[in-house]
Amino acid sequence: MQDVDEIKLLLDSRIPLLVIETYEEKKALDVLLKVANKHSKDLHRWSVTDGLSRLNFGPQLVPKGTELNEAEEMLRHIKQQMQPGMYALCDIHPFLIDQPQIVRLLKDIALNHFAIPHTLVFLSHQLRLPAELSRYSASYALTLPDDDKIMEIIRDEAKDWSDRHMGARVKTDNITLKKLVNNLQGMNASDVRRLVRGAIWNDGSLNEDDLPRINKAKFALLDMEGVVSFEQQTEDFSNVGGLHNLKRWLLTRREAFSDDDSKLDRPKGILLLGVQGSGKSLAAKAVAGLWGLPLMRMDVGALYNKFHGETERNLREALKLADAMSPCVLWLDEIEKGMAQDGNDNGVSQRLLGTLLTWMAERRTRVFIVATSNDISRLPPELIRKGRLDEIFFVDLPGPEVRKDIFAIHLRKRGCPLPGFDLEKLSLTTQGFSGSEIEQVIIAALYSASAEGKPISTDILLHEIAATSPLSVVMAEQIAQLRVWAEDRTIPA
Ligand SMILES: Nc1ncnc2c1ncn2[C@@H]1O[C@H](COP(=O)(O)OP(=O)(O)OP(=O)(O)O)[C@@H](O)[C@H]1O
Ligand SMILES: [Mg+2]
Repeated sequence: MQDVDEIKLLLDSRIPLLVIETYEEKKALDVLLKVANKHSKDLHRWSVTDGLSRLNFGPQLVPKGTELNEAEEMLRHIKQQMQPGMYALCDIHPFLIDQPQIVRLLKDIALNHFAIPHTLVFLSHQLRLPAELSRYSASYALTLPDDDKIMEIIRDEAKDWSDRHMGARVKTDNITLKKLVNNLQGMNASDVRRLVRGAIWNDGSLNEDDLPRINKAKFALLDMEGVVSFEQQTEDFSNVGGLHNLKRWLLTRREAFSDDDSKLDRPKGILLLGVQGSGKSLAAKAVAGLWGLPLMRMDVGALYNKFHGETERNLREALKLADAMSPCVLWLDEIEKGMAQDGNDNGVSQRLLGTLLTWMAERRTRVFIVATSNDISRLPPELIRKGRLDEIFFVDLPGPEVRKDIFAIHLRKRGCPLPGFDLEKLSLTTQGFSGSEIEQVIIAALYSASAEGKPISTDILLHEIAATSPLSVVMAEQIAQLRVWAEDRTIPA
């Protein structure tokens, strides 16, 4: 077993403290017991509820009644033992915070390792060792089930169901099975078993319908805490004004993306660059809507800010998740917020970008990337280089025709009958307005109308328009720069 060999190797290299972050405590203890037997050492288990006890055969070293539930007492006891032993400390993590005696006791045991080679193994779902200890420690992640192991679990569960249903067989087909195995990668054995079991017992079959449910459960389990979200709501392109080029581009590539046998290169992704409020986020949702795919949104800023020191690992997790959800659209929102190279973050953003680019180059799954950004000055050149993404679209402020469409879309959305409005005039007076600002004008006008007890009209809208100074006026210079930059690097959306 790979885990046993690798942990043994770590112990052979005389590491006193070993951290294993896992929810599978029982599995970890099984592995440790095998390691201990190979090492001819005793394995002891400690938890605050059960105290210290010996796991392999032989007499208990701690007399009954003094089970050493106290972490500090337990460590003093270990420190005094002359016979080298392995100690699995289950959930000791709360005792590592602001408890100098405990931290020092651990350090004493670690420092004395060359004389009495005790090994302390920390088993918690999550654990950060204090800096004093981290240099004496190593971390180990238990291996996750591979394809064969997942298949074995599925067979196992299918057999169990069959045994309890008078030999009836679980209905499934090879294609679904293959997808299922694929989607269950990256999860631990007990979660795999639980999900498979749920899917089988639900209706005695494993079919296409089970996949989205399993993906959603997986999504929840991996818990990306606001960094990645599953967007339930995609958008219809009929609710997007303008962006005709983008829509045409997407329509001509839909087949190539969804068809495994297509001779054309599979589309990789696009970057939507443009003015704030011009509909980039809206367009990202519409891509998923148009292609009929699930949409995953990654908040790159949150990824960067949330997990100091763990940002890359989380990006890798998120990308793995996208692979598992395949086929899907992965929307990297405000990509410059995590990938900009400002030079004062110890290279985190540089490594994030590297992780993303490597994944993009190597992935075989069907994940279409839609990256959005409104700040060219902070966009890494490596990302924009030709060939990384298929195309960079520039989303400019809407022209007169598109503004009419946007008015129509948002008035219709709010149940206002279109024939009553002078769209021509509204469009003419909103030069320089973004789609978002037009929507805001309509919302404000509806409030004014309601306050005055009148139905919304062109006049009320014109009044609100006059009261708005669009961002394009305030930020005229930046927008002009953006346009110049975009001119020979992008195509208009
Ligand atoms: N072209 C458009 N057609 C219809 N509605 C639009 C359009 N552009 C913007 N809107 C409206 O404005 C809202 C905000 O736009 P959106 O969030 O997509 O802009 P954005 O380009 O992503 O802005 P930011 O750069 O601030 O993220 C949309 O939800 C939509 O209601
Ligand atoms: Mg946006």
